[in-house]
Amino acid sequence: MAENVKKIGVLTSGGDAPGMNAAIRAVVRCAIYNGIEVYGVNKGYNGLINGDIVKMEARSVGEILQKGGTILQTARCLEFKQEEVQKEAVKLAKGLGLDGLVVIGGDGSFRGAQALCRHGLSTIAIPGTIDNDISCSEYTIGYNTCLNTVIEAVDKLRDTSSSHDRCSVIEVMGRHAGYIAVESAIACGAEVVLVPEFEYDFERDVINVIKKGLARGKKHCIVIVAEGIGGSVEIAKKIEEATGMESRATILGHIQRGGSPSVTDRVMASRMGAIAVELLLDGKENRVICVENGQIIDRDIEEGLAMKKELPIELMGLVKKMSV
Ligand code: ADP
Ligand code: F6P
Repeated sequence: MAENVKKIGVLTSGGDAPGMNAAIRAVVRCAIYNGIEVYGVNKGYNGLINGDIVKMEARSVGEILQKGGTILQTARCLEFKQEEVQKEAVKLAKGLGLDGLVVIGGDGSFRGAQALCRHGLSTIAIPGTIDNDISCSEYTIGYNTCLNTVIEAVDKLRDTSSSHDRCSVIEVMGRHAGYIAVESAIACGAEVVLVPEFEYDFERDVINVIKKGLARGKKHCIVIVAEGIGGSVEIAKKIEEATGMESRATILGHIQRGGSPSVTDRVMASRMGAIAVELLLDGKENRVICVENGQIIDRDIEEGLAMKKELPIELMGLVKKMSV
């Protein structure tokens, strides 16, 4: 154990994700368990710039394990990309006596963590985003809960689509990543899924699939569209015109970011939060905690950011096969 680690901080950054509170709680409680002080940095990197930092006690994180959102709040702080601002933040953190910082967020947040480390503050990153788009990790905090929220909504939309013989076009989050779209499509038995990672031909991949379904006796259908494709209202109109099937569009929006975390997110976030503290206590820095082949490991942030994660094409194929 590094004797010189006496005080650490924790922050959440980027889009919030259910389970972030469980991770904060684990960082705070694991630090206190090991006899070190812990500080919460509010509103992501903004708090490190303006000193919005508060001491946390074991009781500060009571009753938050089951809550969505993040008690430390989060932000997108564009200023933090400037080197001068990062150096000032390190000065402020060092002035408070912080020996390390745990950053919970997505790959943008990891770049911030890497910059802090470059300027002298030890950091450990934890993947937290509903998008599941962290290249170096099979798991990200919040994705599992988000999928449960999406499937609950899609199941409800299927009820009403079925009652009215309609096509329901449902837009889910994911500007650059189609994980939410494709896994919810599989889990809900959608006929069609459109994601930013794979090109599609509207006539062949949407209209013809729906028409074939109608010819086989299907009366309603579900089309899942990732946010990165967008235009779900327009897509619903085009489907109605081309197939004669009455169509409605629903954009699920930020409902996907909230809610009580699932058991998977509570457990994984707790494990990752505790590991982050242990890594700092072991004198490690500039590491990201990841899941690889089902195991929690840690790797260099730079190396993690350079990795690539492809949306498996077989998942797209599975949606197609299941829609016959
Ligand atoms: P996420 O962490 O979910 O990917 P963002 O990409 O919005 O979300 O990044 C969150 C925050 O991380 C940004 O608002 C900014 O404060 C910080 N950040 C992003 N990119 C960088 C970068 N290249 N260098 C330093 N900080 C960054
Ligand atoms: O990264 C999480 C996410 O919810 C994306 O799926 C979505 O594209 C984006 O954040 C929305 O961001 P904002 O909260 O700024 O609307």
